[in-house]
Amino acid sequence: MVLGADDEVHDDIAKVLIDAETIQAKVRELGERLSRDYAGLNPVLICILKGAVIFAADLVRQLSIPAKLDFMAISSYGSGMRTSGVVRILKDLDRSIEGEHVIIVEDIVDSGLTLRYLRRTLQARGPASLEVCALFSRDGNDAESLDLRYVGFEIPDAFIVGYGLDVAERYRNLRDIRVFDETSTTAQ
Ligand code: IMP
Ligand code: MG
Repeated sequence: MVLGADDEVHDDIAKVLIDAETIQAKVRELGERLSRDYAGLNPVLICILKGAVIFAADLVRQLSIPAKLDFMAISSYGSGMRTSGVVRILKDLDRSIEGEHVIIVEDIVDSGLTLRYLRRTLQARGPASLEVCALFSRDGNDAESLDLRYVGFEIPDAFIVGYGLDVAERYRNLRDIRVFDETSTTAQ
């Protein structure tokens, strides 16, 4: 059973894109890479709420090195599926990142608008280094100029939900990644 106890299987999420085991294997692999690359650096992982919370929780448990964890909440999307074009900080970090090796942990980089804003904002605080670990990156975005060092999966142009990703706050609790079908009769 892949759904949370209270969820029915809706038609609008009938299609599984990535199953839970494949996600876990990828997170393990990313954790191993980070553990190698950041050995001795005691990095700070910055989990971008709320979408990256499940990924970050799994990722830190795959690290074999000491690491710190902090959280930031920003809004770039409204409650729906389209970017609003406005990014603003809803919750800031608890601690300074000056001189720290910082890894931004993101769920999905779509247009990259959110990430560009985040990078600018965090870079201005004087970290020793700043890299991005995103579980998903949208096919066709400008990955090169976005400079994504760690990416789990390239995702086609479909809206996905599950493993922390939502549509209007729904479906974050799915263990796998599903395509959200906005034309389905059960989609709200
Ligand atoms: P960007 O600023 O266009 O890169 O959008 C990034 C943010 O939009 C992510 O952190 C997600 O919260 C949200 N987002 C983009 N695409 C999807 C998707 O397919 N499913 C769920 N959320 C998404
Ligand atoms: Mg979201």
